[in-house]
Amino acid sequence: MAAPASLGGAVNRRRFLAATGAAALGFTWLQPELVGAAESDAKVKFGLIGCGGRGKWIAELFQKHGGFQVAAVADYFEDRAKAAGDKFGVPAARQFTGLNGYQRMLELKEVDAVVIETPPYFHPIHAAAAVAAGKHVYLAKPIAVDVPGCLTVEASGRQATAQKRCFLIDFQTRAHPAYQEAVRKVQAGDIGRVVNGEATYLCDSTWGGMDPILRQDPANPEVRLRAWGVDRILSGDVISEQNIHAIDVATWFLNAAPLKAYGAGGKTRDFVGDCWDHFAVIYHFPKEILISFTSKQVGKFWDDILCRIYGTEGTADTHYFGEVNVLCDDPFKGGRLGNLYTDGVVNNIATFHKSIGAGDYSNPTVPPSVRSNLTAILGRTAAYAKREVTWEEMIKTNEPWEFSGLKGLKG
Ligand SMILES: NC(=O)c1ccc[n+]([C@@H]2O[C@H](COP(=O)([O-])OP(=O)(O)OC[C@H]3O[C@@H](n4cnc5c(N)ncnc54)[C@H](O)[C@@H]3O)[C@@H](O)[C@H]2O)c1
Repeated sequence: MAAPASLGGAVNRRRFLAATGAAALGFTWLQPELVGAAESDAKVKFGLIGCGGRGKWIAELFQKHGGFQVAAVADYFEDRAKAAGDKFGVPAARQFTGLNGYQRMLELKEVDAVVIETPPYFHPIHAAAAVAAGKHVYLAKPIAVDVPGCLTVEASGRQATAQKRCFLIDFQTRAHPAYQEAVRKVQAGDIGRVVNGEATYLCDSTWGGMDPILRQDPANPEVRLRAWGVDRILSGDVISEQNIHAIDVATWFLNAAPLKAYGAGGKTRDFVGDCWDHFAVIYHFPKEILISFTSKQVGKFWDDILCRIYGTEGTADTHYFGEVNVLCDDPFKGGRLGNLYTDGVVNNIATFHKSIGAGDYSNPTVPPSVRSNLTAILGRTAAYAKREVTWEEMIKTNEPWEFSGLKGLKG
């Protein structure tokens, strides 16, 4: 599909090149009037959709990068939109609220890109609308809560490429050189034939602060929106919303999707929300490789996000908040990663900027993110049903998850 004439990605690219001194490097094809563009004009202007904890935090990292400027904000709640807008100097006229506020933001020609940091339920909707409006998209994981949502994001990624737009999905592990080298070695056969592996996400009650909020009025859609992290439909449940970090690394190592899964899990904590707090799933991958997945979002004193792959000649051992190593005849010692939570995002923001500037619309983060999100959903489906579910059955069933509270929200 051709890019809409009014929304030229080339304009963004020219602005970028002007800002990064491309003319000085000898690029003669730039329009002279753009080479000397003012600094503010040269930045990629973005709209922040979802102005909660991560939205405000990440917008600051975009600002610190130097090549971006917050041009507009949108949040369902006025207090959130105002707090973020005021923080980043966005005028009140460009602080949008309500369920459809993001659509009014997307109409702004000066917005080149959007950063989507809303609850996962809305990611496919927000990303599809942004691509349709000709914007570059930076999207938080997980991409969706259900199969139709994953397929929508897959299609949006393809459409972005066809329209010459960048679409980046923010997984921090995939942006870190130590993880990249560990994966390269496993895929090159350095640990021999892969036999099995573990993907594990252990933590305490991440969204515990949302339980008292939901408790006040559990049927109220606005309350559910504020407490989305303990709401199964809005979050996708723990396995898809949070544990996906570990599952994503496993599917990356194996460069494959599972054929089938079976599992179990449950809710033991005293929360009013319907999300489970622990899962256990066995995934069957091609070549008879088994991945055992475990997670807990409850209890104290043991936290880890790990993926370990065992081969006939060695082991790859990765920890999001620890070390990344490959033990084999030619070992790789990635050592301690420092702060991957921030560093991975900083790398992703830099890649997003570079891709826009270079006109690289290959959008390589989309297919693996769709695959790992569907893998999480496969495990969830099997665990809820307490039976084996195949990938084929999951795709064919294509079960949509609907948020019943939508009608009770402001437009
Ligand atoms: N390591 C990571 O990659 C990582 C870490 C934390 C969060 N996340 C992801 O970031 C996203 C946001 O998480 P958070 O911690 O900032 O949550 P949050 O609740 O602090 O913020 C979400 C914001 O979205 C707003 N919102 C809800 N529905 C909306 C809608 N339809 N339109 C506009 N705004 C809407 C809420 O009012 C809220 O301000 C989630 O998808 C989460 O999974 C990723």
